[in-house]
Amino acid sequence: MRVLDETTLEELHTVLRSLRGVWDEESVDELDHALQSAAKAIEDTADDELVLAAALHDLGHSPLIDAGPEHDAVARAWLTPRFGERVGWLAGAHVAAKRYLAATDTGYTPSQVSVLSLARQGGPGVDPAFVTHPWWPDALRLRRYDDAAKDPGARGATIEDVLTVARRVLHR
Ligand SMILES: [Fe+2]
Ligand SMILES: [Fe+2]
Repeated sequence: MRVLDETTLEELHTVLRSLRGVWDEESVDELDHALQSAAKAIEDTADDELVLAAALHDLGHSPLIDAGPEHDAVARAWLTPRFGERVGWLAGAHVAAKRYLAATDTGYTPSQVSVLSLARQGGPGVDPAFVTHPWWPDALRLRRYDDAAKDPGARGATIEDVLTVARRVLHR
């Protein structure tokens, strides 16, 4: 294992732990949200990069990261240099995917908090730069995991599970 990889995994571990007790949603804290998102991706037999992006898509809510208003762009900027273009892109597309689903899927019912933040994020809409991207279908899968990962009674993955996936992504 390269020294740099160990540093990246330690940073990831620190960021994940920092999500405990951070409340963006009403039903789960951000660590449970991350671990439930990862579990949904694993259940769906997503590939490792998609699982990792699902786990980390809301890392911009970490108090250790200076997020500003665009937490999707922050996730992309943090993940890309560490885990590659696709992990960063997928995590960074989770707001665009919500806007798209809100605009195109009449049965789409994100959480109340998500509906409220949607207005700030530009409202329902189709962003041509995203929907023509080859990874777009996976961004929509990630969004479904995200929306399903807000159940106070659900069992998530563990931090160790996420680190194991991250280790494989670093060694791919
Ligand atoms: Fe988010
Ligand atoms: Fe989320």
